[in-house]
Amino acid sequence: MTIAPKTAPPTHGPRHVAIIMDGNGRWAQQRGRPRLFGHQAGARRVKEIVRACPDLGVTHLTIFAFSTENWKRTQAEVSGLMTLFRRYIRAEARGLVREGVRVRFIGDRIRLEPALVAMMDELEAMTAGNSVVNLTVALNYGGRDEVARATRRLAREVAAGRLDPEAVDAETLARFLDTHVLPDPDLVIRTSGEARISNFLLWQSAYAEYDFIDTLWPDFTTADFAACVGRFAGRDRRFGAAPG
Ligand code: IPE
Ligand code: IPE
Ligand code: MG
Repeated sequence: MTIAPKTAPPTHGPRHVAIIMDGNGRWAQQRGRPRLFGHQAGARRVKEIVRACPDLGVTHLTIFAFSTENWKRTQAEVSGLMTLFRRYIRAEARGLVREGVRVRFIGDRIRLEPALVAMMDELEAMTAGNSVVNLTVALNYGGRDEVARATRRLAREVAAGRLDPEAVDAETLARFLDTHVLPDPDLVIRTSGEARISNFLLWQSAYAEYDFIDTLWPDFTTADFAACVGRFAGRDRRFGAAPG
């Protein structure tokens, strides 16, 4: 069984939606519970949002799970999150394979525990043949870090004489980014009321539409998601050109 669309998806909707899943800590705090309780509730939201994608015409979903700056949190929260990621992969892997979801991870794996990295590699391999929804999880991801790592790889190619520095343009650099196989996001949603991008997909979102919504991530429903997708259809995207 796969989660192929039941109805014809809208033609002017976003193909690639990226989400900054924010507000787990405040959601837990409102309930007098530890922050990790909020992260657990947040993780449960992901599955329904992924499942809603085909009917909304969304082929690519990218979610921000852990930033390069999130290491600044307490050791208890960081290790709790790492455990949550491992548990989530273990619990969801089969369902993701069955439902036709292709999973990819972006971000720097160097700083992540080897056991987690092995599970990420395995999940990518297990789902490599799927194409109903392309789910990309940004884990130890930062836009500046990604551009710096891409530049390092590009510089190595130049130093080895395989790349002419005069031929380097935006497209060349994009080929070295973690996202090189993905289209740019059309729509970036941030929950929790904060109106900032916190180092998410800096390069790729140059012409994305943004939707900042007040709902805390654990309360974000598929109806909220559908509403964001619906609002996108009303936006006038110009990409720098004069209105036509
Ligand atoms: C987002 O929720 C999840 C991660 C950053 C891992 P937060 O943990 O940032 O929640 P708030 O912003 O403190 O409410
Ligand atoms: C961005 O949220 C990172 C994730 C959602 C994983 P943060 O909560 O870390 O961002 P700031 O600190 O409010 O900018
Ligand atoms: Mg936050």
